[in-house]
Amino acid sequence: MTESERDIDHTAAEQAPARISDDMLIILPVRNLVLFPGTVLPVAINRERSLAGAQEAVRAERKIGFLLQKSPEIQNPGPDDLYRIGTVAGILRYVTGHDGTHHLVVQGERRFRVLDFQNGLPFMVARVEYLADEAQPAAASSSEIEARALNIKRIATEAIQLLPQAPAELANAIQSVESPSALADLVASFMDIKTVEKQQLLETVDLKARLERVTELMGKRLEVLRLQREIEDQTREAIDERQKEVLLREQLRQIRKQLGEEGETGEEIRELSEAIDKAEMPQEAYEQAKKELKRLERMPDASAEYSMLRTWIDWMVQLPWSRLDEETIDIEKARRVLDEDHYGLDKIKRRIIEYLAVRKLNPEGRSPILCFVGPPGVGKTSLGQSIARALGLKFARVSLGGVHDEAEIRGHRRTYIGALPGNIVQAIRKAGTRNPVLMLDEIDKLGAGIQGDPASALLEVLDPEQNNTFRDNYLGLPFDLSKVVFITTANVLDAIPGPLRDRMEVIELTGYTEDEKVEIAKRYLVRRQLEANGLKAEQATVTEEALRQIVRHYTREAGVRNLERQIGAVLRHVAVRIAEGAIERQTVDADDLHAILGAPRFENEVAMRTSVPGVATGLAWTPVGGDILFIEATRVPGSGKLILTGQLGDVMKESAQAALSLVKAQSTRLGIEPGIFENSDVHIHVPAGAIPKDGPSAGVAMFTALTSLLTGRTVHSGVAMTGEISLRGLVLPVGGIKEKTIAAHRAGIRKVLLPARNRKDLEEVPQSVRDEVEFVFCERVDEVVHEALGLELATAA
Ligand SMILES: Nc1ncnc2c1ncn2[C@@H]1O[C@H](COP(=O)(O)OP(=O)(O)O)[C@@H](O)[C@H]1O
Ligand SMILES: [Mg+2]
Repeated sequence: MTESERDIDHTAAEQAPARISDDMLIILPVRNLVLFPGTVLPVAINRERSLAGAQEAVRAERKIGFLLQKSPEIQNPGPDDLYRIGTVAGILRYVTGHDGTHHLVVQGERRFRVLDFQNGLPFMVARVEYLADEAQPAAASSSEIEARALNIKRIATEAIQLLPQAPAELANAIQSVESPSALADLVASFMDIKTVEKQQLLETVDLKARLERVTELMGKRLEVLRLQREIEDQTREAIDERQKEVLLREQLRQIRKQLGEEGETGEEIRELSEAIDKAEMPQEAYEQAKKELKRLERMPDASAEYSMLRTWIDWMVQLPWSRLDEETIDIEKARRVLDEDHYGLDKIKRRIIEYLAVRKLNPEGRSPILCFVGPPGVGKTSLGQSIARALGLKFARVSLGGVHDEAEIRGHRRTYIGALPGNIVQAIRKAGTRNPVLMLDEIDKLGAGIQGDPASALLEVLDPEQNNTFRDNYLGLPFDLSKVVFITTANVLDAIPGPLRDRMEVIELTGYTEDEKVEIAKRYLVRRQLEANGLKAEQATVTEEALRQIVRHYTREAGVRNLERQIGAVLRHVAVRIAEGAIERQTVDADDLHAILGAPRFENEVAMRTSVPGVATGLAWTPVGGDILFIEATRVPGSGKLILTGQLGDVMKESAQAALSLVKAQSTRLGIEPGIFENSDVHIHVPAGAIPKDGPSAGVAMFTALTSLLTGRTVHSGVAMTGEISLRGLVLPVGGIKEKTIAAHRAGIRKVLLPARNRKDLEEVPQSVRDEVEFVFCERVDEVVHEALGLELATAA
């Protein structure tokens, strides 16, 4: 352009507004681009005439009409080189780059047709008429149009999914367009069809015809895309899986880099993806994990959903989907391990060895599920650990005490805030293998709640028919539990839900005698507590007599849990003194205990309590082993009534009533002062223990306590008794002899009165108890009062 031309241009532009009337449009010819109504496009302006037109439009705030050139080669198109139908657009932005390029960002508004071109201006101007593209369809055809529009939405959405480079918003935009005409134009504008085809669509003003044409073109494109994808898939399959991963990953990295997105997230996703590959998941889980990872990749990493999904993937990759430890059953080794870890328990160890032997002979068979039943601290958990050690497997524990929601076992669905897998899957992860020994502790404490029944979830866990596809709600995928070695524990057999109990082989542990406890302490507990308190064996010794005193006077339990605690307390005391530099080593003897552990807690309790008339020592069976129980009777002014206090069940109340009736009936024989009931009530109190007591077996002790009270004789200390009474004075058999006699022995009792018909149960009583306790079998209460109170009764009249 010369100086003078520029001047002319300038002048012309100055004058232009006067000559462009309202039905005229500044026209920009474009080469490879069809602008549709409703769409926004950037347009580069390269030609002088176009630049002049654009600048004039910007200056005068006019709209611009875009017309496609019939041939892109033509540098200076005249009216005949242009199509006649185009789109008028508003200018959103006009951008001049540093490098001297000019861009318009325009928004298409309406179709127009050129009526004629105006000459004599430095840019193109045409007189136009606007085309009503949104002609309201007749009611009859409106549903037809709607159906076509819906169809386009469907096809377009599918096509977008197949187009890897299509922006995600596009699909949303298409879904939300309401006007069928706008929809057709939107789809037409992003479709990668020839420019001429686009121009044809622009010229198709009739809505129905345009929708049809868009459908047709889109359908063709979709087919091509599908085919392309198929070919890609086939080629991809041909490439080795690994290679493909590397390839795709590299591509992804490149794309990221170009987008300036490479950063921590990319790194994280890559690591997760590798972790998924390494986790050896079953196919279904693998696919799901990969799919979710893709989803994760697209999420903003600050969102709550991101961290939820992230946690889920973490769980997935950390689970030992395929990790199996090799199970080795060497019976000799198993024996050794069991003996190393536990003193005594011979019968139990034998049962465990049998169990292992069967497992060894028939590895594919279904081993029964062992259930250890017994009071706390008798070694149930540690036996489970030994079994794991003997098998060379990991050990994990799930505590079921107080579990009353199915979700605690099975997990919450991952859509819940803070959801996690259930405790079975959690334990498996902790174990790190798919075949640990899994101890389900306190299965008898399982609650039944409103939120689904945990027992039935547990049944599924333990059922060999189902547990290879155990479905945790959080994972949402089956996990194979069939190789897990399940062991359960309980305090009370009766409290285990029936169907669960049927699945299990019950092994009962009853509790230890004093001697056994001393042995266990000597061989295991002291050593363990030395270690736990950082002491060397030569720094502290606890004499056997001291251990015995601890058992006898500082603990009262069936197991050895408190014993271990007390030994720990003793050794901590020693450790502190050594640390202070006061001493270098200490031997703790029985005499030292008072200073370290304080006054004996259970000293002579029996002797002390029974030193007044009216107190008899009974024996009770509780879920945590046997226990002794003091029945206290006193006399208060009244008229022969019975007052009961303490924690007594109904059966126990009845048996108190029976005891009183019997005493009244036999009062003459017993030598009870006549008329005593006329001015006094008797009050029987059973001290509340931790566990409420019930049952008829305290009848004999109640009778004895009342007789003691009313005759003024004290019960011989060191005598305890159990048995039901009949109104005729017979002593009837009761249960729990073994636990009761062990408890009596533990409490220092040396004579136990038992119903004659319980004689056969003596077999069950450990030898060490039989060695030290005298058992007297009684048919009638006469023998009881003879043994307990030294009363000689005349033969019944
Ligand atoms: N027969 C035994 N020999 C050695 N240690 C024992 C024996 N019985 C119990 N223990 C120890 O007593 C403690 C409590 O036992 P634990 O297994 O926790 O009891 P439970 O599970 O029955 O409540 C553990 O340290 C355990 O090793
Ligand atoms: Mg335990």
